[in-house]
Amino acid sequence: MRIGICGLGTVGGGTYHLLQAKRKEITRRVGMDLDIIHVATRNPDPALKKDNIKVSKDVFDVAKNPDVDIVVELIGGFDPALELVLYAIENGKHVVTANKALIAVHGNTIFEAARKKGVVVAYESAVAGGIPIIKALREGLAANSIQWLAGIINGTSNFILTEMGERKRDFPEVLKEAQQLGYAEADPTFDIEGIDAAHKLAILASNAFGIALEFDRVFTEGISHITTADIEYADELGYRIKHLGITRITESGVELRVHPTLISQDTLIANVNGVMNAVVVKGDSSGSTLYYGAGAGAEATASSVVADIIDIARAWREERSSSVVPPLAFNNLRNDLRILDISEIESEYYLRIPARDKVGVMAKISQVLTNYGINIEAVIQKEPHGEDADKGIVPVVILTSRIKEEVMDVAQGVIEGLDEVGAKIIRIRVEQFDGENN
Ligand code: HSE
Repeated sequence: MRIGICGLGTVGGGTYHLLQAKRKEITRRVGMDLDIIHVATRNPDPALKKDNIKVSKDVFDVAKNPDVDIVVELIGGFDPALELVLYAIENGKHVVTANKALIAVHGNTIFEAARKKGVVVAYESAVAGGIPIIKALREGLAANSIQWLAGIINGTSNFILTEMGERKRDFPEVLKEAQQLGYAEADPTFDIEGIDAAHKLAILASNAFGIALEFDRVFTEGISHITTADIEYADELGYRIKHLGITRITESGVELRVHPTLISQDTLIANVNGVMNAVVVKGDSSGSTLYYGAGAGAEATASSVVADIIDIARAWREERSSSVVPPLAFNNLRNDLRILDISEIESEYYLRIPARDKVGVMAKISQVLTNYGINIEAVIQKEPHGEDADKGIVPVVILTSRIKEEVMDVAQGVIEGLDEVGAKIIRIRVEQFDGENN
């Protein structure tokens, strides 16, 4: 099979090298050669010419090349990636892409175009880098009704939170390192503000529940407001703060949310550190299963890109014109499930309340919580220190019982309105994962 690669950046370069370095072994796995015959890159390397590979600056040259069977889209973004992928499909090419934004936002259109044309659009590398989570959901867990899944699906955020917690390093300095290591998105706000994780969560939810891609409905909150103080208080309470994507089927609909979350230190995913990703999937038959591995980086992501290429080549060799596995895990997607607004979810909460150092402040705060039916599960009150001490502010940290988010919104507003409270409350959701040790 003949391959054309569009984009030789971090993932494109990794894919190119992996296909070359593993050539013999891949031939043994597939039963035929896989040849890179064309690449498109903005900065052509003269070494490419020696490999007898056609080199273009225009990615559309690859999609137009009648000898190319698989177009590998690794340019990222929407423009011109969407046009390129649709053009390649129209030309009867199979497509492999690592572009999570493209799949999350335009996947419904792309898969429909591919179905009509009888070609495959494969995207394992779009979610959690080197972890074969799409294959696990679509194939390995196909006998299950998935109840929920939760994952650390942005390596950059996990790297930043880990470094802040373990080494007390500054946020900007750690972000710069993540960029140098090739983990961060071209626009790193996608990592820090949770957009990248929201893209991946939308894709995971569709594969878990057989629903259309609903990126616009994902509630998204990033990590930029998390401080080392919150990480330390969470630690004292027996929790870690992780940036999670969570999706769950409830009686009222589907939860789709990405946000920092306190999770017990005893859970396996609380101990997933650095750039590593992990996804816990709760199936009704399988129980909880956990998938762990590198979520970013050239080689790990290339591993999934090449696995997709191998899948397509194997099917092609058997003269199956397209894959037998539907792109979103189900041949018939459901449209009877409502995506819940974040105000409708239930959660426990961590509250860091900047209280004035006055008599009776705790009593007032707990009275408000009682009025709204919110139990206090744990409290920490510290001596005032630093800038806060000068302003007479003491942090009161509370873990609450489970309550509907819209009720918590109102209670929080009332507490912030108290004379005894000096500024906005920092609130972080707490997740217990059905009490299981995931
Ligand atoms: N920026 C992404 C991350 C790359 O940090 O996880 C992998 O999708």
